[in-house]
Amino acid sequence: MERRGLRPFLKWVGGKRQLLPILRRHYPASPGAYFEPFVGSGAVFFDLAALGRLDARPVTLSDDNADLIGCYARIADSLPAVLTALEHLAAGHGLDARRHYLQVRDCEFNPQRAAWRESGGEIAAYSAGLAAMLIYLNRTGYNGLFRLNATGEYNVPPGRYDRPRIVDRALLTEVSAVLTRPGIRVQRAPFEQILSDARAGDFAYFDPPYAPLSKTANFRGYTGRGFTEADQERLQQVLIQLSQRGVDVLLSNSTAPSVIKLYESSAEARAAGLRAWQVPARRAVNSNAQRRGTVAELVVSNIPPRPQ
Ligand SMILES: C[S@@+](CC[C@H](N)C(=O)[O-])C[C@H]1O[C@@H](n2cnc3c(N)ncnc32)[C@H](O)[C@@H]1O
Repeated sequence: MERRGLRPFLKWVGGKRQLLPILRRHYPASPGAYFEPFVGSGAVFFDLAALGRLDARPVTLSDDNADLIGCYARIADSLPAVLTALEHLAAGHGLDARRHYLQVRDCEFNPQRAAWRESGGEIAAYSAGLAAMLIYLNRTGYNGLFRLNATGEYNVPPGRYDRPRIVDRALLTEVSAVLTRPGIRVQRAPFEQILSDARAGDFAYFDPPYAPLSKTANFRGYTGRGFTEADQERLQQVLIQLSQRGVDVLLSNSTAPSVIKLYESSAEARAAGLRAWQVPARRAVNSNAQRRGTVAELVVSNIPPRPQ
């Protein structure tokens, strides 16, 4: 069943909504199970779900960011509590929005998050209140960033929005309904987990933190650890193995020379059936506004693109 209104409920650096028209050309008509190991705000997952392509199929969404997964989990199982807390936060975001943001971030979110981490940081223990605060800070903070300082505190500055949409009850209700369908699993896991789970005929979309085009462009948000060249190389091996196994794979990444080497000019990747296409896309994260223009991105897949 198509659900046209379904879309990400978070803003996320590297979110793929703008690239959807290009990525859609590689969606398999009828995937077996679906995997998205770098789910972030889930632009591709929600697109596939909106198109009805995931109906009655097993879906595994994962990410290494525990707050993000905690938030998905509470939207799935505790939506009323998340909405109540979010409405309360939205009501407080009045005349002195900046002050309210900083007060929530520093006096509520960070202390409660620290207590959660100290008690083990289990996804099941991420509270509805933390999930609501994460949504609030994301909707009103700077550019959909998720960033932690050296001591692990969330330190994204307030954004500059006149009237941010903080509570979208209809969207969150739809998201919750999709996330609670039978067969949907949302988990905190490193991307390699997919190797033990995916089978021939399944479809997997990979959207890792992009390899930096230059040293100054390196963005180390999301989990605090960054994503190294060694991670990119392990990811290439995962794609190769899955492709050899008959899994339909799709990856987006930057056109950094190291990435081109791993896919476009790699004989091993070609032999596994992977092809690479450079496509125009817009990049939003760069501290230098001048460099935020149009850049090429790399799309890699073993599914040839269909004409639109
Ligand atoms: C480019 S973003 C994905 C954006 C997503 N496609 C969207 O539409 O919002 C990359 C994601 O990878 C996650 N990540 C970083 N390192 C990871 C790892 N080793 N394993 C799994 N996920 C990781 C980050 O937390 C982040 O959410």
